[in-house]
Amino acid sequence: MPNQRLCEFFDVLDRNKQKVTYGMVHMFTDHSDVLPADVDTTSRLSRRVTLKIPVITSAMDTITEAKMAIAMAEGGGIGSIHRNLQPEDQAKHVARVKHRLNGLIRTPFTLYKNMTVAGHRANQEQRRREQKNVFDKFPVVAREGSTRLVGVVTDNDLDFCIDPNRTIGDFMTPLRRVKRAGPGTTIDEAYRIMLENKIKLFPLVDGTNVCGMYLFSDAKRIRSGVRTMQNTDSDGQLVVCASVGVGDGAMRRAELLAPRRCNVFHIDTAHGDSGNVFDTIRRLKAAYPTIDVIAGNISRGESAKRLVDTGVDGILVGQGPGAICITRIIAGIGVPQVSAIFDCVRAVEDTDVPIIADGGIEYSGDAAVALAIGASCVMVGRYLGGTDETPGEVIHYKGRLVKKIRGMGSLGALRESASSQERYLQTANGPLVPEGVEGLVNYQGPVHDVLDQLVGGVRKSMGYLGAKNLTEFRERADLFLVPDSKESHPHSITISEDAPNYQARQ
Ligand code: XMP
Repeated sequence: MPNQRLCEFFDVLDRNKQKVTYGMVHMFTDHSDVLPADVDTTSRLSRRVTLKIPVITSAMDTITEAKMAIAMAEGGGIGSIHRNLQPEDQAKHVARVKHRLNGLIRTPFTLYKNMTVAGHRANQEQRRREQKNVFDKFPVVAREGSTRLVGVVTDNDLDFCIDPNRTIGDFMTPLRRVKRAGPGTTIDEAYRIMLENKIKLFPLVDGTNVCGMYLFSDAKRIRSGVRTMQNTDSDGQLVVCASVGVGDGAMRRAELLAPRRCNVFHIDTAHGDSGNVFDTIRRLKAAYPTIDVIAGNISRGESAKRLVDTGVDGILVGQGPGAICITRIIAGIGVPQVSAIFDCVRAVEDTDVPIIADGGIEYSGDAAVALAIGASCVMVGRYLGGTDETPGEVIHYKGRLVKKIRGMGSLGALRESASSQERYLQTANGPLVPEGVEGLVNYQGPVHDVLDQLVGGVRKSMGYLGAKNLTEFRERADLFLVPDSKESHPHSITISEDAPNYQARQ
């Protein structure tokens, strides 16, 4: 529920048909006994998916594939894998994220007893070539296609095989010596048993049939709290979101993504307040009731209300604020982002549907404002666009190291991808009318360093307002219009040393 001061601030603007965006508003400080290091940034992406840091990366082909999605979930956020990938390839990226950190592996990859070691090695080689996940610890089942557990084997055991025509059964640990447990065994129980017995894989069986597996290395990482920031689901796997688009295409992607245990479907369109989007939300919710659906993009409160009525689990707000967007210019539409966010927050204040502020974050203070006025998280593209984890190479350009970034509605993306054309409502065989541009961003190094700066700025902001968590942040937020002056940015000097969280406007 937005606080009274914010409502009054925006009401005054609305009466004069004025809208504001990042950089035009800042926040008053408040008395504080809260240190930035002590604030809690826990938030939500959607009805059922929580975040440890309120950040999701954009479903753009120069921003989020498996590498970025893994890094984001390991850092406490989440990534949305883009859909300019073919559906099967997108599903593989999701699988890569999910296999990065296995809590409970529900359908372990098995070998069978009479398989030759040569056959297994050839399969491993092929998986490596196809860049699929290559596993090294396996339950062994009675025969090809069976689920009856007869032993376990690791690639280490097979190192001692000199004659490749011998079988997996010759090297496996037989069932009588395999520690195992029933379905429903928790990761804590499994970890204790593996630790006590010094075993590296722990199969779960339903009767005699394999129905899951824990690995010691994963359980240890999860349990030891080394990476307390990891954002994991109830199976202990990293969370991931994937963009699906609309209509039958969305249903086809969902069919491939759901078995990979994708956590969130993202309906990313240029115009989220449309019948096609509403239908797709309803179809996805009916077919996959346990998977959250976020949808957009919109920029008005009444659109947010209509989306809530469809049963959506999270709403993306932002039409045209992005660094690579030209929608505002070529179509003359879109509401300045801060006003758009607040309008949508207010419209759905009596529901539990989070608002995702998508696009336009230039500085960490912009993210702070978005969260303070009620967004549950920010979606960022350009902010992290030059990091190691984005797709694409680091290149030299005029003495600088840079990476390429492009809008999903840019000419290049529209030419290459039917998904981009659908997202930006291109008519079949019509002229391509771009809504985005292609450009370069400075190379930034590892994404976690840049994320630390983004979230660090938000933490500082919460500290200035005396807010221990994001709920208090919203209660305490109070905005004012920034005077048209140079005062806020560095001025009257030549910057001699770059700051990791500040780049002068171009
Ligand atoms: P930032 O500013 O974080 O914005 O890079 C990322 C968001 O921009 C949207 N997006 C586009 N919007 N034309 C647009 O009007 C485009 O070509 C385009 N490509 C991406 C998208 O919502 C993303 O999350």
